[in-house]
Amino acid sequence: MLLVQAILLFGVNLAVASVAPSMDLNDGNKIPLVALGTGRGTSGSIPIDEVRDAVLWAIEADYRHIDTAVLYQDETQVGQGVADAIAKGLVTREQMYITTKLPCERHAREQVVPTLRESLTRLGMDYVDLFLIHFPVATKDDGSPDDIDYLETWRGMEDAKELGLVKSIGVSNFNVSQIDRLLAKGKVKPAVNQIEVHPAYTNEELVAHCQNKGIAVMAYSPFGFLVPRNRTYVTPPLIDDPTLVKLAEKYGKTTGQVVLRYLIDRDMIIVPKSANKERLAQNIDLFDFKLTADEVATINKFNQNSSVFDFSGWKNYPYYPF
Ligand SMILES: NC(=O)c1ccc[n+]([C@@H]2O[C@H](COP(=O)([O-])OP(=O)(O)OC[C@H]3O[C@@H](n4cnc5c(N)ncnc54)[C@H](OP(=O)(O)O)[C@@H]3O)[C@@H](O)[C@H]2O)c1
Ligand SMILES: *[C@@H]1O[C@H](CO)[C@@H](O)[C@H](O)[C@H]1NC(C)=O
Ligand SMILES: *[C@@H]1O[C@H](CO)[C@@H](O)[C@H](O)[C@H]1NC(C)=O
Ligand SMILES: *[C@@H]1O[C@H](CO)[C@@H](O)[C@H](O)[C@H]1NC(C)=O
Repeated sequence: MLLVQAILLFGVNLAVASVAPSMDLNDGNKIPLVALGTGRGTSGSIPIDEVRDAVLWAIEADYRHIDTAVLYQDETQVGQGVADAIAKGLVTREQMYITTKLPCERHAREQVVPTLRESLTRLGMDYVDLFLIHFPVATKDDGSPDDIDYLETWRGMEDAKELGLVKSIGVSNFNVSQIDRLLAKGKVKPAVNQIEVHPAYTNEELVAHCQNKGIAVMAYSPFGFLVPRNRTYVTPPLIDDPTLVKLAEKYGKTTGQVVLRYLIDRDMIIVPKSANKERLAQNIDLFDFKLTADEVATINKFNQNSSVFDFSGWKNYPYYPF
């Protein structure tokens, strides 16, 4: 209180702005709760050359976590955006948290470390903070199914961690039984499972399962159908949903911010994507309010198990999770 008064009285410029909080991972590392998404796959999306600016703007808006992947083909631009911010004196590499992901066509154990080294070269970095198996399914280079067991892939992830090329390792799009099999058979416990979660797809069973096992959940496509999706269906809530509007008015926020805060209040890390300077700043301005348990429960009632992502082209592949 006194400090706040002093700042008001003397007009002290808060040069050290508030950075989004972090949570502890099961391996002793910390992960910032808000990651800028840079995948551009679900909504018509941004051209690749916008990623560099978006990353710099995000860091200016106090993001410290950027989510990329080999699949997004934008690791070079992510690395440039981070380098721009470092050159401007905004952050050091150590203050940033970078997540990237192993693609399906590199699932053989001996491919994992070389693939990560290629990512590091594109990023211009000597380590990443978090490396995820993007999807449990393995494919050949031409996209046809391969039968490599993700347990073998996991050994390669463990190799990468042992070499110090990555601080934490985890998975993405793994289901309950795949998580259990990894916990039973792996040496290193996955730190994270990155999965789709939003009001139309609350994924409660999988989220609870991961969290009960000490695995942090990163929620991707966090806006669900609040934003336009290139799909044949639309599932509520939309951006002007009356229930969300009421909560937004109560807290003086937008409906998008209410949905992001709902995910934070379910103890998840969020991965909102924006290439727009104002919107990406909005998407991290979430730490001056909190939903009640009843409000979280009310938003959970929107659930229709309706996913934005359609991976069904892989449904006959080995290890398909859904
Ligand atoms: N692991 C996986 O398999 C996987 C799968 C999907 C996604 N992801 C990750 O998750 C990230 C996010 O997922 P996503 O891109 O599908 O969905 P999203 O973040 O839920 O939605 C992105 C869309 O919302 C718009 N938007 C952003 N902020 C907004 C705001 N405040 N108000 C209104 N509209 C807003 C964006 O447009 P503008 O850019 O114009 O603001 C964009 O069209 C991806 O970029 C990727 O990093 C991972
Ligand atoms: C939307 O989906 C259709 C059919 O899958 C595809 O042909 C089209 O390119 C997509 N449009 C955008 C903007 O992504
Ligand atoms: C969503 O899926 C879960 C688990 O399969 C099921 O129990 C539930 O009834 C489904 N909910 C809806 C609205 O379809
Ligand atoms: C998870 O995926 C496996 C394929 O590896 C499938 O056999 C299983 O039925 C799925 N389990 C759940 C709980 O969805």
